[in-house]
Amino acid sequence: MPITPHGNGELVDLRAAAADRAALRDRAKQLSPLELDSRERTDLELLTIGGLSPLAGFMTQKECRSVVDDMHLPNGVPWTIPVTLAADRELADGLADGAEIALCAGGEPIAVMEVQDRYAVDRRDEAQKVYRTDAQAHPGVQALYASREVRLGGPLSVIELPEGEFPQYRLEPARTRAEFERRGWKTVAAFQTRNPIHRAHEYLTKVALEGTDGLLIHPIVGETKSDDIPADVRMRCYEALIDRYYPRERVLLSVLPASMRYAGPREAIFHAIMRRNYGCSHFIVGRDHAGVGDYYGTYDAQQIFDEFDADALGIVPLKFEHAFFCKRSGGMATSKTSGSEPSERVFLSGTKVREMLLAGEAPPPEFTRPEVAEILIGAMKG
Ligand code: ADX
Repeated sequence: MPITPHGNGELVDLRAAAADRAALRDRAKQLSPLELDSRERTDLELLTIGGLSPLAGFMTQKECRSVVDDMHLPNGVPWTIPVTLAADRELADGLADGAEIALCAGGEPIAVMEVQDRYAVDRRDEAQKVYRTDAQAHPGVQALYASREVRLGGPLSVIELPEGEFPQYRLEPARTRAEFERRGWKTVAAFQTRNPIHRAHEYLTKVALEGTDGLLIHPIVGETKSDDIPADVRMRCYEALIDRYYPRERVLLSVLPASMRYAGPREAIFHAIMRRNYGCSHFIVGRDHAGVGDYYGTYDAQQIFDEFDADALGIVPLKFEHAFFCKRSGGMATSKTSGSEPSERVFLSGTKVREMLLAGEAPPPEFTRPEVAEILIGAMKG
Protein backbone atom coordinates (compact mmCIF):
# COMPACT_ATOMS: atom_id res chain seq x y z
CA MET A 1 0.00 0.00 0.00
CA PRO A 2 1.45 3.41 -0.89
CA ILE A 3 1.80 5.81 2.01
CA THR A 4 -0.92 8.40 1.51
CA PRO A 5 -0.52 11.98 2.71
CA HIS A 6 -2.07 12.74 6.11
CA GLY A 7 -5.77 13.61 6.36
CA ASN A 8 -7.64 13.26 3.10
CA GLY A 9 -4.81 11.61 1.19
CA GLU A 10 -3.97 14.63 -0.98
CA LEU A 11 -0.67 16.52 -0.92
CA VAL A 12 -1.40 20.22 -0.50
CA ASP A 13 0.30 22.65 -2.91
CA LEU A 14 -0.41 26.32 -2.25
CA ARG A 15 1.53 27.83 -5.16
CA ALA A 16 -0.48 30.04 -7.44
CA ALA A 17 -0.63 28.85 -11.06
CA ALA A 18 2.43 30.10 -12.97
CA ALA A 19 0.27 32.25 -15.25
CA ASP A 20 -1.22 34.10 -12.27
CA ARG A 21 1.97 34.81 -10.37
CA ALA A 22 2.91 38.16 -11.87
CA ALA A 23 -0.58 39.56 -11.30
CA LEU A 24 -0.61 38.18 -7.74
CA ARG A 25 2.75 39.83 -7.05
CA ASP A 26 1.44 43.18 -8.34
CA ARG A 27 -1.66 42.85 -6.19
CA ALA A 28 0.44 41.92 -3.14
CA LYS A 29 2.40 45.16 -3.47
CA GLN A 30 -0.81 47.14 -2.86
CA LEU A 31 -1.74 45.19 0.30
CA SER A 32 -0.81 45.71 3.94
CA PRO A 33 2.49 43.88 4.45
CA LEU A 34 3.14 41.46 7.29
CA GLU A 35 6.79 40.46 7.73
CA LEU A 36 7.02 36.83 8.84
CA ASP A 37 9.31 35.78 11.67
CA SER A 38 11.68 32.90 11.05
CA ARG A 39 9.36 30.22 12.39
CA GLU A 40 6.43 31.53 10.37
CA ARG A 41 8.61 31.52 7.25
CA THR A 42 9.47 27.87 7.71
CA ASP A 43 5.84 27.02 8.47
CA LEU A 44 4.77 28.84 5.32
CA GLU A 45 7.25 26.86 3.25
CA LEU A 46 6.00 23.59 4.72
CA LEU A 47 2.36 24.56 4.18
CA THR A 48 3.14 25.50 0.58
CA ILE A 49 4.83 22.25 -0.37
CA GLY A 50 2.40 19.94 1.44
CA GLY A 51 4.65 19.00 4.35
CA LEU A 52 1.79 19.92 6.66
CA SER A 53 -1.03 18.34 4.62
CA PRO A 54 -3.98 18.50 5.12
CA LEU A 55 -3.39 22.05 6.47
CA ALA A 56 -3.82 24.56 3.67
CA GLY A 57 -3.18 27.73 5.64
CA PHE A 58 -2.37 29.08 9.08
CA MET A 59 -4.86 27.81 11.63
CA THR A 60 -8.13 29.50 12.43
CA GLN A 61 -9.21 29.85 16.05
CA LYS A 62 -11.42 26.78 15.79
CA GLU A 63 -8.58 24.67 14.42
CA CYS A 64 -6.09 25.98 16.95
CA ARG A 65 -8.44 25.38 19.89
CA SER A 66 -9.20 21.89 18.74
CA VAL A 67 -5.50 21.07 18.33
CA VAL A 68 -4.52 22.53 21.71
CA ASP A 69 -7.41 20.94 23.62
CA ASP A 70 -7.92 17.63 21.79
CA MET A 71 -4.80 16.93 19.69
CA HIS A 72 -7.02 16.61 16.61
CA LEU A 73 -8.26 19.00 13.94
CA PRO A 74 -12.01 19.78 14.11
CA ASN A 75 -12.65 17.04 11.50
CA GLY A 76 -11.02 14.41 13.73
CA VAL A 77 -7.63 14.19 11.98
CA PRO A 78 -4.73 13.84 14.48
CA TRP A 79 -2.73 17.08 14.89
CA THR A 80 -0.77 18.14 17.95
CA ILE A 81 1.04 21.44 17.33
CA PRO A 82 -0.52 24.83 16.49
CA VAL A 83 0.69 26.21 13.15
CA THR A 84 -0.19 29.86 13.44
CA LEU A 85 0.56 33.34 12.18
CA ALA A 86 0.60 36.37 14.47
CA ALA A 87 0.33 40.10 13.86
CA ASP A 88 0.51 43.25 15.95
CA ARG A 89 -2.87 44.43 17.20
CA GLU A 90 -2.58 47.62 15.17
CA LEU A 91 -2.40 45.73 11.86
CA ALA A 92 -5.08 43.23 12.89
CA ASP A 93 -7.55 45.91 14.03
CA GLY A 94 -7.16 47.80 10.77
CA LEU A 95 -8.24 44.83 8.63
CA ALA A 96 -11.79 44.30 7.39
CA ASP A 97 -13.11 40.73 7.49
CA GLY A 98 -12.00 38.89 4.37
CA ALA A 99 -9.28 41.49 3.68
CA GLU A 100 -6.12 40.32 1.96
CA ILE A 101 -2.64 40.92 3.32
CA ALA A 102 0.80 40.34 1.84
CA LEU A 103 3.04 37.93 3.76
CA CYS A 104 6.62 39.07 3.32
CA ALA A 105 10.14 37.76 3.80
CA GLY A 106 12.95 40.32 3.76
CA GLY A 107 10.40 42.95 2.67
CA GLU A 108 9.38 40.98 -0.45
CA PRO A 109 5.82 39.65 -0.69
CA ILE A 110 5.84 35.87 -0.99
CA ALA A 111 2.17 35.08 -0.42
CA VAL A 112 -1.27 36.63 -0.23
CA MET A 113 -3.55 35.61 2.61
CA GLU A 114 -7.26 36.14 2.97
CA VAL A 115 -7.83 36.97 6.62
CA GLN A 116 -10.87 35.00 7.71
CA ASP A 117 -10.18 34.97 11.37
CA ARG A 118 -8.48 37.17 13.98
CA TYR A 119 -8.08 35.89 17.50
CA ALA A 120 -6.14 36.18 20.72
CA VAL A 121 -5.04 33.11 22.66
CA ASP A 122 -4.63 32.21 26.29
CA ARG A 123 -0.87 31.73 26.15
CA ARG A 124 -0.63 30.09 29.54
CA ASP A 125 -3.25 27.51 28.68
CA GLU A 126 -1.60 26.80 25.31
CA ALA A 127 1.83 26.49 26.94
CA GLN A 128 0.57 24.08 29.58
CA LYS A 129 -1.25 21.89 27.08
CA VAL A 130 1.23 21.89 24.20
CA TYR A 131 4.51 22.11 26.15
CA ARG A 132 3.29 20.61 29.44
CA THR A 133 4.84 23.61 31.22
CA ASP A 134 4.50 27.35 31.28
CA ALA A 135 8.08 27.91 32.45
CA GLN A 136 9.54 30.74 30.40
CA ALA A 137 12.94 29.06 30.42
CA HIS A 138 11.51 26.49 27.96
CA PRO A 139 12.45 27.73 24.46
CA GLY A 140 9.07 26.84 22.94
CA VAL A 141 7.18 28.58 25.73
CA GLN A 142 9.50 31.56 25.46
CA ALA A 143 8.72 31.89 21.74
CA LEU A 144 5.00 31.59 22.46
CA TYR A 145 5.10 34.41 25.01
CA ALA A 146 7.26 36.56 22.72
CA SER A 147 4.92 36.19 19.72
CA ARG A 148 2.76 39.02 18.46
CA GLU A 149 -0.66 39.55 20.03
CA VAL A 150 -3.27 38.59 17.47
CA ARG A 151 -3.37 35.46 15.33
CA LEU A 152 -4.61 35.52 11.78
CA GLY A 153 -6.11 32.51 10.04
CA GLY A 154 -7.22 31.95 6.47
CA PRO A 155 -6.37 30.56 3.05
CA LEU A 156 -3.13 31.35 1.25
CA SER A 157 -1.91 31.75 -2.25
CA VAL A 158 1.85 31.62 -2.61
CA ILE A 159 3.67 33.72 -5.20
CA GLU A 160 7.13 32.22 -4.85
CA LEU A 161 9.17 30.74 -2.03
CA PRO A 162 12.60 32.29 -1.51
CA GLU A 163 15.35 29.76 -2.23
CA GLY A 164 16.33 28.17 1.06
CA GLU A 165 19.67 26.81 2.27
CA PHE A 166 20.92 23.46 0.92
CA PRO A 167 18.86 23.57 -2.30
CA GLN A 168 20.27 20.23 -3.49
CA TYR A 169 18.97 18.56 -0.33
CA ARG A 170 15.70 20.49 -0.02
CA LEU A 171 13.44 17.87 -1.54
CA GLU A 172 9.72 18.54 -1.32
CA PRO A 173 7.32 15.76 -0.31
CA ALA A 174 6.43 15.10 -3.96
CA ARG A 175 10.16 14.73 -4.72
CA THR A 176 10.99 12.36 -1.86
CA ARG A 177 7.94 10.29 -2.79
CA ALA A 178 9.09 10.12 -6.41
CA GLU A 179 12.60 9.20 -5.31
CA PHE A 180 11.36 6.39 -3.06
CA GLU A 181 9.34 5.04 -5.95
CA ARG A 182 12.30 5.28 -8.32
CA ARG A 183 14.42 3.34 -5.86
CA GLY A 184 11.66 0.76 -5.39
CA TRP A 185 11.36 1.45 -1.66
CA LYS A 186 7.99 0.34 -0.32
CA THR A 187 8.87 0.94 3.32
CA VAL A 188 10.98 3.87 4.47
CA ALA A 189 12.09 4.74 8.00
CA ALA A 190 12.44 8.47 8.65
CA PHE A 191 15.04 9.78 11.06
CA GLN A 192 14.38 13.20 12.56
CA THR A 193 17.38 14.96 14.06
CA ARG A 194 18.59 18.36 15.17
CA ASN A 195 22.05 17.09 16.10
CA PRO A 196 25.10 15.63 14.41
CA ILE A 197 24.65 11.87 14.08
CA HIS A 198 26.56 10.26 16.92
CA ARG A 199 26.98 6.51 17.34
CA ALA A 200 23.68 6.12 19.24
CA HIS A 201 21.75 7.85 16.44
CA GLU A 202 23.60 5.77 13.87
CA TYR A 203 22.64 2.59 15.71
CA LEU A 204 18.93 3.50 15.72
CA THR A 205 18.94 4.23 12.00
CA LYS A 206 20.73 1.00 11.17
CA VAL A 207 18.49 -1.18 13.29
CA ALA A 208 15.56 0.50 11.53
CA LEU A 209 17.17 -0.12 8.16
CA GLU A 210 17.39 -3.84 8.93
CA GLY A 211 13.61 -3.90 8.67
CA THR A 212 12.79 -1.34 5.98
CA ASP A 213 13.70 -0.87 2.31
CA GLY A 214 15.23 2.55 2.84
CA LEU A 215 16.18 5.24 5.31
CA LEU A 216 15.41 8.94 5.02
CA ILE A 217 17.87 10.95 7.10
CA HIS A 218 15.78 14.07 7.55
CA PRO A 219 17.49 16.72 9.68
CA ILE A 220 15.51 19.75 10.68
CA VAL A 221 17.10 22.95 9.34
CA GLY A 222 14.68 25.68 10.45
CA GLU A 223 15.11 27.57 13.69
CA THR A 224 16.85 25.70 16.52
CA LYS A 225 18.22 26.78 19.92
CA SER A 226 21.33 28.94 19.77
CA ASP A 227 23.40 26.25 21.49
CA ASP A 228 22.38 23.55 18.98
CA ILE A 229 25.00 22.86 16.26
CA PRO A 230 24.25 25.02 13.15
CA ALA A 231 22.66 23.20 10.22
CA ASP A 232 25.52 23.83 7.75
CA VAL A 233 27.99 22.13 10.09
CA ARG A 234 25.59 19.25 10.68
CA MET A 235 25.10 18.77 6.96
CA ARG A 236 28.84 18.27 6.51
CA CYS A 237 28.77 15.71 9.32
CA TYR A 238 25.88 13.81 7.71
CA GLU A 239 27.62 13.77 4.33
CA ALA A 240 30.88 12.48 5.81
CA LEU A 241 29.11 9.83 7.84
CA ILE A 242 26.90 8.53 5.03
CA ASP A 243 29.86 8.49 2.69
CA ARG A 244 31.85 6.17 4.90
CA TYR A 245 29.47 4.28 7.13
CA TYR A 246 26.18 3.75 5.26
CA PRO A 247 25.19 1.85 2.13
CA ARG A 248 24.61 4.87 -0.15
CA GLU A 249 21.89 3.24 -2.21
CA ARG A 250 19.74 2.57 0.84
CA VAL A 251 19.88 6.06 2.34
CA LEU A 252 18.45 9.38 1.21
CA LEU A 253 19.63 12.60 2.87
CA SER A 254 17.22 15.51 2.63
CA VAL A 255 16.35 18.44 4.88
CA LEU A 256 13.13 19.33 6.64
CA PRO A 257 12.58 23.11 6.57
CA ALA A 258 10.83 23.16 9.94
CA SER A 259 11.60 25.01 13.16
CA MET A 260 12.05 23.09 16.40
CA ARG A 261 9.45 23.70 19.09
CA TYR A 262 11.02 21.42 21.71
CA ALA A 263 7.51 20.23 22.60
CA GLY A 264 8.67 16.67 23.31
CA PRO A 265 5.75 14.21 23.01
CA ARG A 266 3.42 16.45 21.01
CA GLU A 267 6.25 17.34 18.67
CA ALA A 268 7.05 13.66 18.13
CA ILE A 269 3.55 13.20 16.69
CA PHE A 270 3.97 16.37 14.61
CA HIS A 271 7.35 15.15 13.33
CA ALA A 272 5.85 11.77 12.42
CA ILE A 273 2.91 13.31 10.53
CA MET A 274 5.26 15.47 8.46
CA ARG A 275 7.35 12.42 7.55
CA ARG A 276 4.22 10.56 6.47
CA ASN A 277 3.61 13.47 4.09
CA TYR A 278 7.13 12.99 2.74
CA GLY A 279 6.17 9.38 1.97
CA CYS A 280 7.70 7.48 4.90
CA SER A 281 6.08 4.40 6.44
CA HIS A 282 8.03 4.35 9.71
CA PHE A 283 9.33 6.97 12.11
CA ILE A 284 12.16 6.59 14.62
CA VAL A 285 11.41 7.77 18.16
CA GLY A 286 14.20 7.31 20.70
CA ARG A 287 14.81 8.74 24.12
CA ASP A 288 13.41 12.17 24.99
CA HIS A 289 12.50 12.91 21.36
CA ALA A 290 12.33 16.68 20.69
CA GLY A 291 12.86 17.29 24.38
CA VAL A 292 14.79 19.99 26.15
CA GLY A 293 16.00 20.26 29.76
CA ASP A 294 14.08 17.84 31.95
CA TYR A 295 10.56 18.88 31.05
CA TYR A 296 9.60 15.45 29.68
CA GLY A 297 9.95 11.87 30.84
CA THR A 298 12.49 9.84 28.84
CA TYR A 299 9.82 7.85 26.99
CA ASP A 300 6.85 10.28 27.05
CA ALA A 301 7.33 10.92 23.33
CA GLN A 302 6.87 7.19 22.68
CA GLN A 303 3.90 6.70 24.99
CA ILE A 304 1.90 9.49 23.35
CA PHE A 305 1.59 7.37 20.18
CA ASP A 306 -0.70 5.02 22.17
CA GLU A 307 -3.23 7.85 22.51
CA PHE A 308 -3.86 7.91 18.75
CA ASP A 309 -5.67 5.68 16.35
CA ALA A 310 -2.83 3.99 14.46
CA ASP A 311 -4.65 4.05 11.10
CA ALA A 312 -5.50 7.75 11.44
CA LEU A 313 -1.85 8.50 12.18
CA GLY A 314 -0.80 6.37 9.23
CA ILE A 315 2.90 6.08 10.11
CA VAL A 316 4.41 3.47 12.41
CA PRO A 317 6.63 4.63 15.29
CA LEU A 318 9.83 2.65 15.75
CA LYS A 319 10.54 3.05 19.44
CA PHE A 320 14.06 2.78 20.82
CA GLU A 321 15.37 2.76 24.35
CA HIS A 322 18.46 4.71 25.33
CA ALA A 323 21.30 3.48 23.10
CA PHE A 324 24.97 3.38 24.09
CA PHE A 325 28.24 1.61 23.36
CA CYS A 326 28.41 -1.43 25.62
CA LYS A 327 32.01 -2.13 26.67
CA ARG A 328 31.20 -5.63 27.82
CA SER A 329 29.86 -6.80 24.46
CA GLY A 330 31.99 -4.41 22.41
CA GLY A 331 29.16 -2.95 20.36
CA MET A 332 26.17 -0.63 20.34
CA ALA A 333 23.18 -1.74 22.39
CA THR A 334 20.27 -0.58 24.51
CA SER A 335 19.11 -1.77 27.90
CA LYS A 336 16.83 -4.12 25.96
CA THR A 337 19.79 -5.92 24.41
CA SER A 338 22.68 -5.48 26.82
CA GLY A 339 23.37 -7.19 30.12
CA SER A 340 25.97 -4.62 31.14
CA GLU A 341 26.18 -2.51 34.27
CA PRO A 342 25.77 1.27 33.87
CA SER A 343 29.52 1.70 34.42
CA GLU A 344 30.18 -0.40 31.29
CA ARG A 345 28.18 1.93 29.05
CA VAL A 346 29.77 4.85 27.20
CA PHE A 347 27.49 7.80 27.69
CA LEU A 348 28.28 11.51 27.40
CA SER A 349 25.83 14.34 27.99
CA GLY A 350 25.35 17.02 25.35
CA THR A 351 27.04 19.52 27.66
CA LYS A 352 30.05 17.26 28.14
CA VAL A 353 30.40 16.74 24.37
CA ARG A 354 30.26 20.49 23.77
CA GLU A 355 32.95 21.07 26.39
CA MET A 356 35.22 18.48 24.80
CA LEU A 357 34.76 19.83 21.29
CA LEU A 358 35.39 23.39 22.46
CA ALA A 359 38.63 22.20 24.04
CA GLY A 360 39.59 20.68 20.67
CA GLU A 361 39.23 17.18 22.08
CA ALA A 362 37.49 14.42 20.09
CA PRO A 363 34.87 12.41 21.99
CA PRO A 364 35.77 8.70 22.11
CA PRO A 365 35.12 6.75 18.88
CA GLU A 366 32.56 4.68 20.82
CA PHE A 367 30.54 7.89 21.05
CA THR A 368 31.24 9.71 17.77
CA ARG A 369 32.90 8.66 14.52
CA PRO A 370 36.30 10.41 14.15
CA GLU A 371 35.27 11.97 10.81
CA VAL A 372 32.32 13.65 12.53
CA ALA A 373 34.40 14.75 15.54
CA GLU A 374 36.93 16.36 13.21
CA ILE A 375 34.28 18.45 11.45
CA LEU A 376 32.77 19.52 14.76
CA ILE A 377 36.11 20.51 16.27
CA GLY A 378 36.96 22.48 13.13
CA ALA A 379 33.61 24.30 13.31
CA MET A 380 34.10 25.16 16.99
CA LYS A 381 37.44 26.77 16.20
CA GLY A 382 35.55 28.97 13.74
S1 ADX B 1 15.56 15.62 18.50
O1 ADX B 1 15.19 16.89 19.10
O2 ADX B 1 15.58 15.67 17.04
O3 ADX B 1 14.77 14.51 19.05
P1 ADX B 1 18.22 14.40 18.46
O4 ADX B 1 18.68 14.89 17.15
O5 ADX B 1 19.25 14.27 19.52
O6 ADX B 1 17.07 15.40 19.02
O7 ADX B 1 17.51 13.01 18.35
C1 ADX B 1 17.10 12.42 17.16
C2 ADX B 1 16.39 11.11 17.48
O8 ADX B 1 17.31 10.19 18.11
C3 ADX B 1 15.20 11.21 18.44
O9 ADX B 1 14.22 10.26 18.10
C4 ADX B 1 15.83 10.87 19.78
O10 ADX B 1 14.85 10.36 20.66
C5 ADX B 1 16.82 9.80 19.39
N1 ADX B 1 18.00 9.67 20.28
C6 ADX B 1 19.00 10.56 20.48
N2 ADX B 1 19.96 10.07 21.29
C7 ADX B 1 19.55 8.81 21.64
C8 ADX B 1 20.09 7.76 22.46
N3 ADX B 1 21.29 7.86 23.08
N4 ADX B 1 19.38 6.62 22.58
C9 ADX B 1 18.18 6.47 21.97
N5 ADX B 1 17.62 7.42 21.19
C10 ADX B 1 18.29 8.57 21.01
